[in-house]
Amino acid sequence: MPASIVVGTQWGDEGKGKATDYLADRMDFVVRYQGGNNAGHTILAEGHTLKLQLIPSGILYPHITSVIADGVVVDPRVLLEEVDGLAALGIAIDPSRLVVSGNCHMIMPYHLELEKVTERFLGKNALGTTKRGIGPAYADKAARIGLRIQDLFDEKILRQKLDVVLKEKNQVLTRVYGRLPITAGLIVDDYVRYAERLRPHVVDTSKLIHEGLRAGKNVLLEGAQGTMLDLDKGTYPFVTSSNPVAGYALASVGIGPREVDRVVGITKAYVTRVGAGPLPTEDTGSEGERLGARGREFGTVTGRKRRCGWFDAVIARYAARVNGLTELFVTKLDVLSGFETLKVCTAYRAGDEMFEEFPPNQSLFHDAEPVYEELEGWDEDLGRVRSFGDLPSPARKYLDRLQDLAGVSIGVVSVGPAREQSLTAKGGIAQ
Ligand code: IMP
Repeated sequence: MPASIVVGTQWGDEGKGKATDYLADRMDFVVRYQGGNNAGHTILAEGHTLKLQLIPSGILYPHITSVIADGVVVDPRVLLEEVDGLAALGIAIDPSRLVVSGNCHMIMPYHLELEKVTERFLGKNALGTTKRGIGPAYADKAARIGLRIQDLFDEKILRQKLDVVLKEKNQVLTRVYGRLPITAGLIVDDYVRYAERLRPHVVDTSKLIHEGLRAGKNVLLEGAQGTMLDLDKGTYPFVTSSNPVAGYALASVGIGPREVDRVVGITKAYVTRVGAGPLPTEDTGSEGERLGARGREFGTVTGRKRRCGWFDAVIARYAARVNGLTELFVTKLDVLSGFETLKVCTAYRAGDEMFEEFPPNQSLFHDAEPVYEELEGWDEDLGRVRSFGDLPSPARKYLDRLQDLAGVSIGVVSVGPAREQSLTAKGGIAQ
């Protein structure tokens, strides 16, 4: 059975959890392939709200095995806290249902400390990261001085690697930033305790998924963040330090391109962004405020207010291209009720030039002025609509225009957080 990929087409927070939930019934495995506890989704269970940052959203379904693949950076403390949080809600996690690759790099205490001081050092040029140590952990991975989950299971190796790394990190912390040095002993004590609890969850995830596919199981590969935050394909340097794009799912999990036949692009009906960096269609006036208030646009991880703006078809087309999208899952259409007209950005103007495609040079993108088309709005509350055909005509025209501009057809439209608020469009999402 071929695998499916779910990927954000904007700057994250598109509602990927909702899409995963929609597809979960048919899945046997849900796999996180990049990022770390910078992502977040809220789940409702037993009348309680739980915020999960690392554990894939499939965890609430007893028939699903949740997998954390090699490309994710794992803060073991956070992962175990999430397991404990679920247990406190009466959802005890059998180790065979939550598995982690031993190749995952770990977020260490010095990554958190270094990110704090470097963001402060950057001053007004700071990226506005989530301060979870993501960038420093991926930097160490690329520099080949990272510690991986498998290193936890040999205390001698763990100590040796830590000693080497801390020699350099402590020079930077003390001499460059005037901070106190970090001692290996305390880290080892904590991480050896984590090792004991993590051990039953650590398996060869690549082999597991490969065998699952061979046995006809359904596999969903779930990206965090979004295309425009991709380290290579996003708005560098205002990006995260990993690759949310669909192609990276293969490298992270360790399967070939022929194993995937469906790439679902999650697209909010408008756009949002947290942190610094260009957002051409941002509306800093009352309409942006209204989008933020109606859409409850606050970050799951940091609680920061998200910047809001109009749908940007230039990046939608770009996301369709770089991810090879086979269909769109449009979220939060209900938020757009009550606007007399809706703007959709069809191209950018930068200097004397017009761009219908994402500009090839970052300076052009920074200067991009959106070229808008205005579409008729609607007043009806869409939250009660249960079938695509019952959407008001202007809402259907809005969606038609979105898919024409993006060049990918819409499979599902969501009009609220509940499962029954997902409307299947003509053709739907291939089953
Ligand atoms: P980092 O991933 O913490 O290094 O942050 C880098 C940039 O990505 C910042 O602008 C963050 O706000 C943004 N970012 C990281 N994770 C998410 C996410 O899950 N949703 C939205 N933005 C994110």
